[in-house]
This record gives sequence, C-alpha cells and structure tokens, in this order.
Amino acid sequence: MMAAASPISLHRAFSEGQTAVITGGASGIGLAAAKRFAAGGLNVVIADLPGERLEQARRGLAAIGGDSAVRAMATDVSDIAQVQQLKAEALAAFGSVSVVMNNAGIGRPAGRAWQDYERWRKILDSNLIGVINGVQVFVPDLVARNQPALVINTGSKQGITSPPGNAAYNVAKAGVKALTEQVAHELRNVPGCQVTAHLLVPGSTYTGLSSAKEKPPGSWTPEQVIDYMLAHIGDFYILCPDNDVTRQMDERRIQWAADDLIMNRPALSRWHPDFKDAFQKFLKG
Ligand SMILES: NC(=O)c1ccc[n+]([C@@H]2O[C@H](COP(=O)([O-])OP(=O)(O)OC[C@H]3O[C@@H](n4cnc5c(N)ncnc54)[C@H](O)[C@@H]3O)[C@@H](O)[C@H]2O)c1
Repeated sequence: MMAAASPISLHRAFSEGQTAVITGGASGIGLAAAKRFAAGGLNVVIADLPGERLEQARRGLAAIGGDSAVRAMATDVSDIAQVQQLKAEALAAFGSVSVVMNNAGIGRPAGRAWQDYERWRKILDSNLIGVINGVQVFVPDLVARNQPALVINTGSKQGITSPPGNAAYNVAKAGVKALTEQVAHELRNVPGCQVTAHLLVPGSTYTGLSSAKEKPPGSWTPEQVIDYMLAHIGDFYILCPDNDVTRQMDERRIQWAADDLIMNRPALSRWHPDFKDAFQKFLKG
C-alpha cells in the first residue's frame, strides 16, 4: 500500500507525482535519496549495475512508494546507449522527468598516478563519463520541457582539494565539478529556463564505498546527506559537513588549496612537510 506522501522540499521539481531518476540508486547516498523521494510521493527510477542489490532496492522502495511508482533499471552509466535506454524507459513509465541525480560512482583507488591504467579508465568511465552521459541524455529534454527541474551531480571534496592517494578519483570528481559549473551557467543563460544544476559535495559518508565494518563516528549516514541536500537545494554548491569536518574547516581547506596557485607554493602543499605547521595554523584561523 502506498505511504501517505509528505512534502520533502518546497522546490516544485519535488512535487508529488513528479519523477526522479537516480543513478547509483541501489546503495548509499543514491538509495537514501530514492527512499526520501518515494516517501514524498515522487515516482522513482533507480539505475545501477545489474544484480540482486538493485532488485532488493526496488522492493524496498516499492514498500515505501508503491509498486507502480518505482522502476529499477540495470544500467552501466559509462555506456551512453544504456543511459539513453534508461531515459526511454523512465519516459515510457512516467511520461516526464523533473529530477536527475547523476550519482553513481566507484571509489577503490588505482595505484600511483602513473600506474594501473585499466583502473584509471574504470574510475573515469563511471565517475566522470557516467555524469557526462547523464547530462547529455537528460538535460536537453529537461530544457525543452520547460518545467521546474533539477540536475544534481554528486561530486566530492576530493575533486576540490585533491588529497593524495587516489589521483583517478580526484581527477574524475574535479571534472564533475567543472562540468556541473558549466551546466549551471549555461542553463541560467537559457531565457526563461526553469532547470537548475547543483553540485552535491558529501563529506565522509558511511556507504558501500566505505571500507569500515561499521559507521565511523566522524562519518554521516547517507540519510543525513540527503536531508542536508534537500535543506540546501537552493544552493549550487551543496557542501556537506560531517561529524569531524565543519563548514569552517572545509572553507579553510578549500582556501588553502586555491592559495597554492596564487602564492606559487608547491602542489598539494597541505601535505608537504615544509608547510605542515603553516597549514595547521591557517586551519585554526
Ligand atoms: N561515501 C562517501 O564518503 C562519499 C563522499 C563524497 C562523494 N561520494 C560520492 O557519492 C556517490 C555515491 O556513492 P556512495 O558513497 O553512496 O557509494 P555506494 O557504493 O553505496 O553507491 C554507489 C552506487 O553506484 C553504483 N555504480 C558504480 N558504478 C556504476 C556504473 N558504472 N553504473 C551504474 N551504477 C554504478 C554502485 O553499484 C553503487 O550502488 C559517488 O559518486 C561517490 O563518489 C561519496
């Protein structure tokens, strides 16, 4: 039986009866979003790699929103033909789409920046090409439909401050940031356009990407990330804190990273022994 819908956000794209497509929707942040949207009375289409987890997620969502309001599509977002098929099936099922969340991603690091080419390709294909595919396939329709709509791309702080250890992931997420900024700019320059783009930047979140067996105290749950996203949907940069990292710490880290260039410091000076003390002092303000 369908749950009584409660409004999840004042944004009209989230109105009851609208449709959200969420990639990486079988786990973690994507699944938390799908659950929240389904509880708010939206139709929900989750896309993820094929397997039992996807079907399990579909069943869980159907228990919230009702069978007829939920679709689960086996989709590899790195293949644009599969993303086109995803759109075709979402439109066939529900007629239109008002929220697209390009969120699918993988995390396990490649080796050094100059090693493990195959792994590099896999990370870039899922985490960057997958988002490019989502934008290419869905945004033209959203613009043409000219109704309130949202494109939410999941980035990462790693795409902004680039901590050492997973170069491929950082490169992919820096690309997602650059792409989403361009999409937002171009959309606001389409006369009368009611579609906006947003960069969701989760902090440390306990999901399928985490290696820990239980939630570390410093991490947020995926539900906290989605609560924060919905509360800040008017922002372009939806920069989430977590239980360890405050907004102020993020601002200082981002400022320090930008200052590397302006002050002509070595790359990633935050992790350079000569700058360790200066960074700590800067962080404390
Ligand atoms: N967990 C964190 O701390 C954190 C922090 C910042 C950003 N993120 C980002 O959040 C997003 C969601 O990740 P999560 O933490 O919920 O992890 P998760 O592993 O729980 O969920 C990611 C989902 O994406 C799916 N996926 C991976 N590659 C895919 C592909 N090619 N096609 C379709 N689906 C694919 C996975 O199967 C999985 O279900 C990712 O983009 C991730 O980079 C996570």
